[in-house]
Amino acid sequence: MKEKPMARDITERTTLVIGGTGKTGRRVAERLATRGRAVRVGSRSGAPGFDWEDRGTWGPALDGVDAVYVTYYPDLLMPEAPERIGALATLAVSRGVRRLVLLSGRGEPGAERCEEALKAAGGDWTILCASWFMQNFSESVLAEPILAGEVALPVGSVPEPFIDADDIADAAVAALEDDRHVGATYEITGPRLLTFADAVAEIAGALGREVRCVEITPEAFAAELSAAGLPDTLRAVLLELFTEILDGRNAYVTDALSRLTGRPARDFSTFVRDAVAAGAWRA
Ligand SMILES: NC(=O)c1ccc[n+]([C@@H]2O[C@H](COP(=O)([O-])OP(=O)(O)OC[C@H]3O[C@@H](n4cnc5c(N)ncnc54)[C@H](OP(=O)(O)O)[C@@H]3O)[C@@H](O)[C@H]2O)c1
Repeated sequence: MKEKPMARDITERTTLVIGGTGKTGRRVAERLATRGRAVRVGSRSGAPGFDWEDRGTWGPALDGVDAVYVTYYPDLLMPEAPERIGALATLAVSRGVRRLVLLSGRGEPGAERCEEALKAAGGDWTILCASWFMQNFSESVLAEPILAGEVALPVGSVPEPFIDADDIADAAVAALEDDRHVGATYEITGPRLLTFADAVAEIAGALGREVRCVEITPEAFAAELSAAGLPDTLRAVLLELFTEILDGRNAYVTDALSRLTGRPARDFSTFVRDAVAAGAWRA
């Protein structure tokens, strides 16, 4: 059996944070830097650049790297994701990377294929299966509709335990730095189940504005995505996420976040209060 290289002391490790300017990656990179760790941002705007679409960028991004926080873009349910994640992880391990932490989803067969592909590479892995991010409302696709006063989605009253991206980042740093998490899969959630309508109502209440949450048909949602110019594959993935995956299978909370970070998960109301204070949803 091939021997694994000696792990470098944590303080000397370089971590490649893929998606390091994105919702969780940016927060992971900030936390590692605050701890004095060497961090390389793995994104098209990083130096060197890292692009999932261009395998020629993967090797240079992995040069001298000991650990990788893997986030796939745009979504783990894209058909090519398992093969690409497996190839990236295999290349990383062949270049001496030991620790691999993958950000995954919950109850998503496509995401499970990505997890298996990463595990098969032979590194010391940890999988974080996260619920829907609270920051989808403030830093992503739902921010603009909230500003416009109407969120129209093909979702009914199925509740989701939204999780704060700051909590995911704390969990990821714990996973990257503590070897007790090697070989473990954690299902991390926020502390409270909310429907999309509940979440939008909390934001509207904090803003003192009316924001409607309207249930539309999957067909109408698909038509909106087409009109916005989304490619067919991504449109199909978003439809799967909102209609098939959000069927109640993930409507429960876990305590995995506190087991990783030693503190409870942040509540949606805390997220809303802090996002408003930071200027989210300002016209
Ligand atoms: N959002 C959720 O609620 C949720 C829940 C569970 C799991 N997930 C999973 O989390 C992952 C991240 O999703 P997200 O929506 O939060 O995205 P995100 O991390 O905010 O994505 C943006 C990041 O991806 C980078 N990026 C974009 N295109 C890239 C490319 N071709 N190659 C390399 N990097 C690229 C961007 O940097 P540049 O523009 O500089 O390249 C940026 O750093 C997905 O795999 C998703 O399945 C999401």
